[in-house]
Amino acid sequence: MKKFRVGVVGCGGIATWTHLPAYTQLCKEGLAEVVGLCDIKLEKTQPPLEFWPDAYTTADYHDLLKDETIDVIDICTPNYLHSIIAIEAMKAGKHVFCEKPDAITVEEVEMMKKTSEETGKRLMIMRNNRYLKSSQYLKKQIERGEFGDMYCGRCGWQRRRGIPGKGGWFTTKEQSGGGPLIDLGVHMIDLAMYLMGNPRPVAVSGATFCKFADNDASADSANAEFGEKQENGTFDVEDLAMGFIRFENGAVLQVEVSWASNVEEEKNFVELRGTKAGFKWEWGKIKVFGEKDGVLINEEPLFGEDDRGHENNLRHYYKVLNGMEDPKFIPQQGVNMIKILRAMYESAATGREVQL
Ligand SMILES: NC(=O)c1ccc[n+]([C@@H]2O[C@H](COP(=O)([O-])OP(=O)(O)OC[C@H]3O[C@@H](n4cnc5c(N)ncnc54)[C@H](O)[C@@H]3O)[C@@H](O)[C@H]2O)c1
Repeated sequence: MKKFRVGVVGCGGIATWTHLPAYTQLCKEGLAEVVGLCDIKLEKTQPPLEFWPDAYTTADYHDLLKDETIDVIDICTPNYLHSIIAIEAMKAGKHVFCEKPDAITVEEVEMMKKTSEETGKRLMIMRNNRYLKSSQYLKKQIERGEFGDMYCGRCGWQRRRGIPGKGGWFTTKEQSGGGPLIDLGVHMIDLAMYLMGNPRPVAVSGATFCKFADNDASADSANAEFGEKQENGTFDVEDLAMGFIRFENGAVLQVEVSWASNVEEEKNFVELRGTKAGFKWEWGKIKVFGEKDGVLINEEPLFGEDDRGHENNLRHYYKVLNGMEDPKFIPQQGVNMIKILRAMYESAATGREVQL
């Protein structure tokens, strides 16, 4: 088994809170070690040095790409840089693990997939919700046919208040690609589609709203801590989106995401209905709705606290690189995801369903 040498680009919230601690565990398991840390604001590489005191730091990610001892580039930058850095890194001979969303546009994500195919470098995008114990439990049950055909469902991430980095890159369309739809929608649509067996999307409709850009009290949940706020910055993305996806196999999925909206409480969820049973997944906890001997039964499998989605996703990636596991994520799933999100934005702008 090879211990892969990793360079991390972008040392902000998600890198410091999840990737770098996860790598300390993966290092103990002999899978990966962090050797280089990059952030355009060099001071951001200081907290990660607590986990990785021997790593070198740089403000220019090209230094990591030039380093022949580095095998993998892990990208944790703002969204608009994902495809740029991923493509350059693969061309420089590096495997790439990248944060969600895969990219901002369909052209970018298709180019990432093509570059991965042409260079033979493994590209995987973070899909942390798939790797929670509850998600894996459901996946096994669904594949065993316990739920029958999964033909419809709902998914979403509703925040009552929780706009990340208001005025900064998260709320600047050019850098983020959009608001909660591209930020949170990618998590929940992905989990729903993964559990549905990754059906091919064929038509999408949606609506978006921006009602909280001028509300100063709108950042009070822990999730608003992502990114950096900027006084008098830009806010040209939606704060709420609703959508509807049709799949080739006839299944449909409703989507609802918000950074701010007047709902009872923040929650993320996937609810799918199958011909034999259905389930509700909420914050990684599940309830299964079935029927036995003519009696309706609700089951609540217990998994305990589980916040290991990111770590498990990273472990899976390094096991795939080592040939120990087959990839659960392939780049075509990323292309389908960005096509869905962009089509939902297009539909919101035109008021018409978009055929894919
Ligand atoms: N999977 C998840 O649960 C999850 C959660 C939060 C964020 N994310 C994703 O992670 C990414 C980063 O989000 P964040 O919340 O950590 O944002 P952040 O703003 O806290 O961190 C981004 C970092 O990238 C740095 N950076 C910007 N340009 C750079 C460049 N050219 N070279 C090197 N570094 C550069 C910034 O200085 C900053 O420190 C986003 O794509 C976001 O969607 C994923």
